[in-house]
Amino acid sequence: MKILILGNGGREYSIARAIKNEKEDHTLFFQPGNGATHTLGTNLNLKDYNDLAKFALENEIELTIVGPESPLVDGVVDVFKAKNLVIFGPSAKAAQLEGSKVYMKNFLAKYEIPTARYIETDSIEEAFKFTNTLTAPIVVKADGLCGGKGVIIAQSHDEAKVAISEMLSGKSFGDAGLKVIVEEFLDGYELSMFAVCDGEDYILLPAAQDHKRLLDNDQGPNTGGMGAYAPTPLVNEELYQKVRDRVIRPTLDGMKKEGAPFEGVLFIGVMVVNGEPITLEFNVRFGDPECEILMPLMTSSVSDMFYKAATNRLGEIKVEFSSQYAVGVVMASENYPYSSSTPAEIILDAVKHKEIEENTHVSFAGVSEQDGKLYADGGRVLVCVGLGDSIKQARDRAYLRCGQVHFAGKKIRTDIAYQALLDN
Ligand code: AMP
Ligand code: GLY
Repeated sequence: MKILILGNGGREYSIARAIKNEKEDHTLFFQPGNGATHTLGTNLNLKDYNDLAKFALENEIELTIVGPESPLVDGVVDVFKAKNLVIFGPSAKAAQLEGSKVYMKNFLAKYEIPTARYIETDSIEEAFKFTNTLTAPIVVKADGLCGGKGVIIAQSHDEAKVAISEMLSGKSFGDAGLKVIVEEFLDGYELSMFAVCDGEDYILLPAAQDHKRLLDNDQGPNTGGMGAYAPTPLVNEELYQKVRDRVIRPTLDGMKKEGAPFEGVLFIGVMVVNGEPITLEFNVRFGDPECEILMPLMTSSVSDMFYKAATNRLGEIKVEFSSQYAVGVVMASENYPYSSSTPAEIILDAVKHKEIEENTHVSFAGVSEQDGKLYADGGRVLVCVGLGDSIKQARDRAYLRCGQVHFAGKKIRTDIAYQALLDN
């Protein structure tokens, strides 16, 4: 197949890598891709969606896969579908599940999907009044897309009120903060669950755990994610079933009723509180770095799953996963997540050890290429992925691979998957 992938991260690299590893020979294009994706296909530079759709038509692209949320919220799927192109991802209307937290929370309430108690408002008085009914910590969220920074966990009522004032005045997040959500803090453990959906049917992937804080032991600022592993033993069949019955099914049925059938990846941020899955949020795309560890666990065809989902035929296929575990350790640049860093050359040692060669790989994200050399020039630069028959084995292999990747200022967490290994 001729496949176009939108995005430039490790997530898109990992999707492409999985597709390239299939038996069938596929031709890949990236918009825009990164400094490593050109080893898997052709990088494009077509920012306008109409130009991109024209390219897809002229080049007989059979499937387009959208990685990040912004083009989805901006309506790239609608532009492609209007031209009868096959594209995997939600319409702009369905992407509101991520594009507007107010839309998402009101949807959850309307369809009785368990979520944290909340208020959505643009009135400072109302927000303060509700805040006074909660005990700290208190969660304050900006309505719109804020690149993962729009959630404040305030440790006191005063801190919550400052966050509310700054959002509603447009000071902290501009227009994205002109409506806010104030909600109760949920104390539990967090999971990333992914359902690949075709509007009616869905396939639930093995549950993963991300590590959002920058530093070991969940300290430091929030990031886009510093590492992930799957499947997590923190989920049993009963919990999967609760998520199916109480979250995914009502969401797919509800979105149909709203006139926006959900096609694409439904990423459910779940907080498990006393064994019950509570929906923290939805995203409408794969998590990053979760995607980098889920793709290598798939043993059936990745491109076929996306193609069938995009053509509303998921019911025809069976998706299979390996019985192994995957652990991904993100390597970030020196000043991440505060500011950009000076591009640093990446040195990749030759992998001579057979076990490491066969059971690890690198998924490239914030990298550029110049004169045949690779440079770290983004926040999250790459992900070292290890596979194994146990989480510990996969984790040890991922870290061995980390030791073979070098660049000035490289930053990693050393405790990825710790929650799964606490008792071992
Ligand atoms: P979100 O962008 O909504 O996923 O929020 C970012 C992160 O903030 C989540 O991954 C959680 O770790 C945390 N968070 C969000 N909402 C809550 C909540 N109600 N209770 C506890 N933690 C939360
Ligand atoms: N890793 C979390 C996210 O992609 O939002």
